[in-house]
Amino acid sequence: MKRVAVFASGSGSNFQSIADAISSGRTPHLSLCGLIASKPGIQAMERAQLLDLPAVSIVKSDFSDDVEFGKALLEQVGDWDTDIIALAGFLVKLPPSFIAQFPGIIVNIHPSLLPKFGGYGFYGQKVHAAVLEAGETITGCTVHLVDEGYDTGKILAQKTLLIHPGETVVELAARVLKAEHELYPEVLERLARE
Ligand code: GAR
Repeated sequence: MKRVAVFASGSGSNFQSIADAISSGRTPHLSLCGLIASKPGIQAMERAQLLDLPAVSIVKSDFSDDVEFGKALLEQVGDWDTDIIALAGFLVKLPPSFIAQFPGIIVNIHPSLLPKFGGYGFYGQKVHAAVLEAGETITGCTVHLVDEGYDTGKILAQKTLLIHPGETVVELAARVLKAEHELYPEVLERLARE
């Protein structure tokens, strides 16, 4: 059984999808050990409370530098005996010193078919707006390992969707998010079995 810590900055619907997969028995090798929020008061923290899971906010700007921020993250995931770190809409760049401690076990989900529409500034609805603007016919989501770049680590899995003619950003975002909720628990379970 692998213990997953989720890092989030927003609504936490991917966090919820992992919790739901665990409670439904679909991911027998996973358990959740806690949530780290990039700021207090986000919806993901409320979800953690309802799930009776530990949740803490660790705010980058509260630290003098990246090294101190990394130490605080390290201490928390260490306290929880974390095996896998799952970024789920976590919009803060992790310190390289932190990433170096966990080779191959920090993963992220991104709402496009990377390497397309990834990198600095590509998050949330901005991604879908750019996909539609570019006239793409397919899109999807990607789970990848986290390295020091933005959305550049090794791709573990992708789910592809056909874009409907005339589809709006809001409609596309909702369909991609649904695909994320299916893909992320599956990939984490696979990682946990390895
Ligand atoms: C998700 O769509 C995730 O792929 C995206 O943020 C959303 C978080 O939603 N992440 C990125 O864009 C990272 N570059 P959630 O808080 O409801 O899980």
